[in-house]
Amino acid sequence: MTSFMSPALPEHVAIIMDGNGRWANARNMPRAYGHRQGMETLHTVVRTAGDVGIKYLTLFAFSSENWRRPETEIIDLFGLLKTFVRRDLAELHARDVRVRVIGDRANLKSDILNLLIEAEQKTRNNGGMTLVIAFNYGARDEITRAVAALVRDIRSGDVADDGVTEEAISARLDTAGIPDPDLIIRTSGEERLSNFLLWQSAYSELMFVPEYWPDFGKDNFLAALAQYSSRNRRFGGLNPPVSVAGS
Ligand code: IPE
Ligand code: IPE
Ligand code: MG
Repeated sequence: MTSFMSPALPEHVAIIMDGNGRWANARNMPRAYGHRQGMETLHTVVRTAGDVGIKYLTLFAFSSENWRRPETEIIDLFGLLKTFVRRDLAELHARDVRVRVIGDRANLKSDILNLLIEAEQKTRNNGGMTLVIAFNYGARDEITRAVAALVRDIRSGDVADDGVTEEAISARLDTAGIPDPDLIIRTSGEERLSNFLLWQSAYSELMFVPEYWPDFGKDNFLAALAQYSSRNRRFGGLNPPVSVAGS
């Protein structure tokens, strides 16, 4: 029997795609080679997620802390994102995928920003899977911007003085309108969130898998979904729910 609050398929899967550098290093190849190979995994996982009926797939592509990396690597990562959008936007659109980008846009150069906006605009009316790309994303930065926006709205009178609620903050996050992730997968054996979706992950199921991202294939993704379906989510309550006397 399928128990209450234990849906077979997660509605929203978020992935911390980690381990490209170590994958390349193990092959005596430059880190950029790992990032390129990681793009192949990305294609596979996006296709598979759409095929099995995942409604939201969020991918952590570049964190607000990844600016600490050497400039050459940052250029590689930005180049790959541009290639991905240019090369795959038509296919995503044809597959009815809607693209959304989360993260801070303020300091992005106009070429990359325009591409991201183009991807969102072109696919905005699609009704299939929503692909959320977390780019220049950091959860503390996102929460800080949301709180700043709420303060502005209170000062301007758009929101009442007592309007600081969880809903008001959620509505100002980059993820506004997107349900919280049911499942967060991190590859490469690291067991941390690295500033990913800190607000939204309050009740997410976490899964840490040993494979480096370029080695993470369709079977690994399906295995993660299968494991998710065997988890027991309680959200602080009891599961299965105990009937209350008299009810
Ligand atoms: C990819 O893996 C994740 C990104 C930041 C793009 P890494 O580049 O972090 O690879 P490792 O962790 O150094 O192996
Ligand atoms: C998290 O991976 C960010 C992305 C996957 C984009 P990192 O490799 O940057 O995380 P840390 O530094 O190991 O925590
Ligand atoms: Mg890493």
